[in-house]
Amino acid sequence: MESIVVKGGRKISGEVVIGGAKNSALPLIAATLLAENGKSCLENIPNLRDINTIIRLLEGMGAEINRSDSSLTVTTTAVENCQAPYELVKTMRASILVLGPLLARFGKARVSLPGGCAIGARPVNLHIRGLEQMGAEIEVEHGYIIGRSKRLKGADISFDVTTVTGTENLMMAAVLADGTTHLRNAAREPEIIDLAVFLRKMGARITGEGTHTIVINGVKKLNGADYQVMPDRIEAGTFMIAAGISDGDIIIKNAPLAALGSLVSKLHEIGLAVEPLTEFKEDELLSGIPVRIKRQTSGLHSLDVKTMPYPGFPTDMQAQIMTLMALAQGTSVISETIFENRFMHVFELQRMGADIEVEGRTAVVRGVEKLSGAPVMASDLRASAGLILAGLAADGETVMSRVYHLDRGYSGFEKKLNALGADIKRINE
Ligand code: EPZ
Repeated sequence: MESIVVKGGRKISGEVVIGGAKNSALPLIAATLLAENGKSCLENIPNLRDINTIIRLLEGMGAEINRSDSSLTVTTTAVENCQAPYELVKTMRASILVLGPLLARFGKARVSLPGGCAIGARPVNLHIRGLEQMGAEIEVEHGYIIGRSKRLKGADISFDVTTVTGTENLMMAAVLADGTTHLRNAAREPEIIDLAVFLRKMGARITGEGTHTIVINGVKKLNGADYQVMPDRIEAGTFMIAAGISDGDIIIKNAPLAALGSLVSKLHEIGLAVEPLTEFKEDELLSGIPVRIKRQTSGLHSLDVKTMPYPGFPTDMQAQIMTLMALAQGTSVISETIFENRFMHVFELQRMGADIEVEGRTAVVRGVEKLSGAPVMASDLRASAGLILAGLAADGETVMSRVYHLDRGYSGFEKKLNALGADIKRINE
């Protein structure tokens, strides 16, 4: 098993380039299943375990996929096996994203239920209910979602909980449906916009992405298209906190600043300077610009954070900002409103000397002078990134096990940090 060893106390500096967004690349790759003719060429695809998984999933269905560096060419003309087996889905929940496209184009699908994960039960009832509203016949048996539909029909769908992949799945189902679909209380994440722009390039008719209501007028068929994935806003936010926690000074060459929602204002409140180095246009939501990050003064100020759907504070940045709060002056309160079990990194941070108390979905973080390096265990993707950030600032060495969590969402994370002056090694134990 691999572990990551972080030697603390080094201030990071220099320039870093952010990779393509995992949570955009995954639905975009699933959307290529909708193309009846032609191939799709996707650029800026990150090199991650989850990407490898969805590629294997589509190849198992009969898609032809060529990959070189960060570009992926996908042809799905010959797809006929409309299945997503448990063996693959259990390693990556986002495999559920093939359900909508398979039903839309082929009228049939057999997709393993994703099941829960460390951070929560993560049901997919809203995905299923929306597809049934569009006329799909869905049965759930032996751990599989089995769907059939002649041609999906446009429907008026309201989500009672805002769901990112639920919105994406139903967007992809609706683009080939007969008639108009309204998705109300839709997720507004930038990755939803990335998907809508790609689907329009394939020939889809979509408006309202990025707002609470998305309207899709179904068409008869879609073709392959070329597209460049947006930079990963969560990786960018993670590096911003790396600079803050190590009292460093870095430039992110391509930060999707406009897509970071309320994260940047929170970082300013904490005491970081996040400075765009070129003209910053609000409408360039999906493109990256060079941004410099360092502390405004030597101290970090405590503050309260509540995770919310976009454009609120992203739950995928909760573990990372908690490590910063652990070293801030004063007491911070962090409320995790999206997932019911997303505080497992707290117990590991406590082993490093953090003073944190968890009450249900609220964590009370009392700042301490210093963290101390310790053996810790990653529990999920973003927790693993947070523990490495804590190791950057801690006295001594932090050894993090279960590194596979990190590799699901960060490509060459320790290499990029070492290029900025950190001292991190990956070892086999
Ligand atoms: C997406 O997960 C992201 N994953 C997650 O990122 C992210 O944390 C999450 O959105 C929230 O922003 C991808 O995009 C691949 P949800 P998703 O459906 O779509 C409830 C990472 O670290 N819900 O928006 O699975 C659900 O239980 C990952 O990159 C239902 O009740 O999340 C949760 O409480 C972790 N029924 C809330 O909605 C449903 O049918 C939001 O979940 C669907 C969701």
